[in-house]
Amino acid sequence: MKDLKPNEIVKELNKYIIGQDNAKKAVAIALRNRWRRRQLDPVLQEEIAPKNIILIGTTGIGKTEIARRLANLTDSPFYKVEASKFTEVGYVGRDVESMIRDIVELTVNKLKIKEQENVQERACKIAEERVLDLLLPQGETPTVNAGAAIDAGDDATSGNSGTNTRKKLHTMLQNGKLDSREVDLDVSDNASPVVEIFTNAGMEEMGVNMKDMLGNLMPKNTKRRKVKVSDALKIIAQEEAAHLVDMEKVKTDAVYLVEQSGIIFLDEIDKIVGKGNSNNPEVSKEGVQRDLLPIVEGSSVPTKYGTVNTDHILFMAAGAFHVSKPSDLIPELQGRFPIRVELHSLGSKEFAQILTAPKNALLLQYIALLRTEGVNLSFTDDGVKRIAAIAEEVNSTTENIGARRLHTLMEKLLENILFQAPDIEDKNIEIDAEFVDNQLKDIVENEDLSRYIL
Ligand SMILES: Nc1ncnc2c1ncn2[C@@H]1O[C@H](COP(=O)(O)OP(=O)(O)O)[C@@H](O)[C@H]1O
Ligand SMILES: [Mg+2]
Repeated sequence: MKDLKPNEIVKELNKYIIGQDNAKKAVAIALRNRWRRRQLDPVLQEEIAPKNIILIGTTGIGKTEIARRLANLTDSPFYKVEASKFTEVGYVGRDVESMIRDIVELTVNKLKIKEQENVQERACKIAEERVLDLLLPQGETPTVNAGAAIDAGDDATSGNSGTNTRKKLHTMLQNGKLDSREVDLDVSDNASPVVEIFTNAGMEEMGVNMKDMLGNLMPKNTKRRKVKVSDALKIIAQEEAAHLVDMEKVKTDAVYLVEQSGIIFLDEIDKIVGKGNSNNPEVSKEGVQRDLLPIVEGSSVPTKYGTVNTDHILFMAAGAFHVSKPSDLIPELQGRFPIRVELHSLGSKEFAQILTAPKNALLLQYIALLRTEGVNLSFTDDGVKRIAAIAEEVNSTTENIGARRLHTLMEKLLENILFQAPDIEDKNIEIDAEFVDNQLKDIVENEDLSRYIL
């Protein structure tokens, strides 16, 4: 477990997200509270329910970004899903319980990979032995022919001892001397088309994996293929690693982890709040909320890895709440999200920082991309400021899409350079305020035009 302190969490988030200090603080506290709870004695642990959070704020100001970055900061199972994806139980589409199945599935896979890494060394050893078996098909006593075929030297051909040959081969194998040689390998063909037909989306809803069920009933599909020794080692090691992993333990561990420290990020939660205006959506939206309630309150959800109790799963929700308010959620659900954090909208000052400061800053991305063409792109301070100012202006005259505006702006700004980069003579390009104005001014001044282009 990464036991980051709240201020360390905020520090990590600061590397990618500008401002929004309240939101960072709230999620940092929530994350730390999970850790705190785990330190308590089990009886008390049971009593402490997670304090779920709603992040509120217009589009493009970092709500989803905070979730994405948070996911990387925690070892806890973390699953992000758009609430708008769900439909009421009994209707076509995804029911809310699928998010529990998904987070468990995700965790099982993560643990499986981790376990496979743990047994990797053993698996490689086994793989080496099996490749040796393939190279020496007659077991430990090679025929004269086999010995000659494998160039194992005089010992083998003179019929000395098979173990000797095997040892020699082993050394050659480990030194990669046999890598380009080919062996016949039975490769399991698990992408069997017959089974594939059954595993459609509908089945997933039942929480039953038909492939798993049928997989054992169907004859194992193996194909004999000629593969290079180096590939054979990898393939066998992978297969062996999969066998060596104790899947029962992985499953129980995954369920336990999800129950104790799982975090589900419900994005776009405002999309399941009534007051919609398309064809009578109120009924089903509220239906989704009603379905969601037991999960957030704590209930048992069956998954193919076992029943998951959702009592202690932390829910973080986010929504723009343009047309609706959090108070339009059904009251029971409102009560389950006691922490509300409002994110502030972004202006030119934040935009200038977003362009340059984050580790993955947009300008750094363009600079790196163009460097591949030998172009040295640079931005002056006033150039950056001008881009940020234009972003703010366009946001206010057309629609406020927050930092997303920067993406469309930058693309338009650098369009010509991106197009001509390979053939540009002067490889040093500096973007200053004048350049920005030249490229964008006409569009910005024409509101209709910017509505379409920027
Ligand atoms: N505060 C911020 N700091 C850095 N980048 C941001 C910030 N807000 C938005 N962005 C950028 O804008 C884009 C959209 O942000 P996102 O978090 O998806 O918006 P929303 O609030 O609608 O979920 C992201 O690619 C992100 O890089
Ligand atoms: Mg979002």
